Amino acid sequence: MSTETAATVGRPARTPAAALRPARTVARWAVRHGLPGVLLERGARQGDLVGRLLRDRAARDEPYALYEELRARGPVSPGSIGLVTPSHAVASGILRSDRFGVGWDRSAAPRLIRWALRFGDEPDATGVAEPPSMLVVDPPDHTRFRRLVSRAFTPRATAAFEPAVQRTADALLDALELRGGHVDLIETYAAQLPVLVIADLLGVPTERREDFLRWGAAAAATLDPGLSFRRYLTAERALRAMHGFLREHFARLRREPGDDLVSLLVGLPDDEALTERELHATVMLLLGAGFETTVNLLGNAVVLLDAHRDQWDALVADPSGWDGAVEEVLRHDSPVQITGRTAKEGVTLAGRGVRPGTRVTVLLGAANRDPDVFADPARFDIGRANAREHLAFSAGIHYCVGAGLARLEGVIGLRTLAERFPVLRVSGRPVRRDLQTLRGFEHLPVTLR
Ligand code: HEM
Repeated sequence: MSTETAATVGRPARTPAAALRPARTVARWAVRHGLPGVLLERGARQGDLVGRLLRDRAARDEPYALYEELRARGPVSPGSIGLVTPSHAVASGILRSDRFGVGWDRSAAPRLIRWALRFGDEPDATGVAEPPSMLVVDPPDHTRFRRLVSRAFTPRATAAFEPAVQRTADALLDALELRGGHVDLIETYAAQLPVLVIADLLGVPTERREDFLRWGAAAAATLDPGLSFRRYLTAERALRAMHGFLREHFARLRREPGDDLVSLLVGLPDDEALTERELHATVMLLLGAGFETTVNLLGNAVVLLDAHRDQWDALVADPSGWDGAVEEVLRHDSPVQITGRTAKEGVTLAGRGVRPGTRVTVLLGAANRDPDVFADPARFDIGRANAREHLAFSAGIHYCVGAGLARLEGVIGLRTLAERFPVLRVSGRPVRRDLQTLRGFEHLPVTLR
């Protein structure tokens, strides 16, 4: 006699892997977000400034006063999770030092955590803040990945994108001309320009851009420590959808390669070939980093220049100032506020002994307002001579691969916007994204004319 019941007839049989999936998700969330969340929360209650920065929405929206409180405690101070630095000199030293890495030694973690990491590991749920993403692996793997993608971002290759960036900006602004006076500038322009440019570069169909934007927004949250389970689930669904898309995309390019970077990566000779997992990690990072950051640069720039109207007017009158303006926006309100490194060996930081395995939170947004480097750092000044000394693109071996492209998109995107709509004004309250690592706007209402 059959053991099937009415309830199971017709339902596809669950594989053992699928049956374990919910437990894996919980394990992954617990080690990557649940536990850090508890530590940060406890720290925040006890007055720890990093805890407050990462858990308190108001501090996250306006972190600069808190950075100054931290600076008053010295160039390096203890936080909920290791040490923290708001200092430009210390941050720059750490980022350029081979005594610090982005990876961490799992073998030193408690047994339960090691087990949860192993059990929770699932390629299709892996985000850009997890290995083998280039962002979080040390040499020699980092060197191998970086060498492959750098080919597409040499200064010459970047300069060659210029006509495409200009064409894309023009087309988006043509559409805005028709939309009338009042729009959300993030939705209609700042988010669209970078996603269209990177989609072109990676040979992914631009018709899918709304999917990428939705997935990217959800996945960007995984850069932040301490996500709630609910937000983590949303992010994980987006990651699975992105991996599914990438799988199909790679298969298509293997059949019909184009002259884009991804075709090059899927067609590498055996001695250079990336594993499937490495390929997913690399392309997902390029796609996500390609638009999740530059949108913030564009939005932050418009808000700052609206608040400093004389500087906007000066740029409208003399567009040669845009290069400097973009550097000052990157410095003053950095799209990536936070990164971190782990000491690989015992080191001394600003006179303090640091044990191997110690995590240091590097506050890029605070380093970029260090008065030892930038005079009157809270002042927004597009003519600032040394704005380019900022660490908004990091430094050392993980220095942003796409910095040249981001600058190009920033300058062309903003210059063209100002040329078309010189009287543009912010016309409602801009809404910040609910993110910690990335800083930018979710909505930016403007009147164009
Ligand atoms: C304003 C825009 C951008 C900002 C502020 C920015 C910022 C950063 C920062 C701070 C890092 C290093 C993080 C660390 O050291 O831990 C980084 C790495 C990276 N960025 Fe960007 N980025 C931007 C645009 C782009 C674009 C357009 C791409 C295009 C593909 C891109 C691709 C990457 C990649 C692949 C890495 C990893 C590099 C490595 O680990 O060696 N970024 N970015």
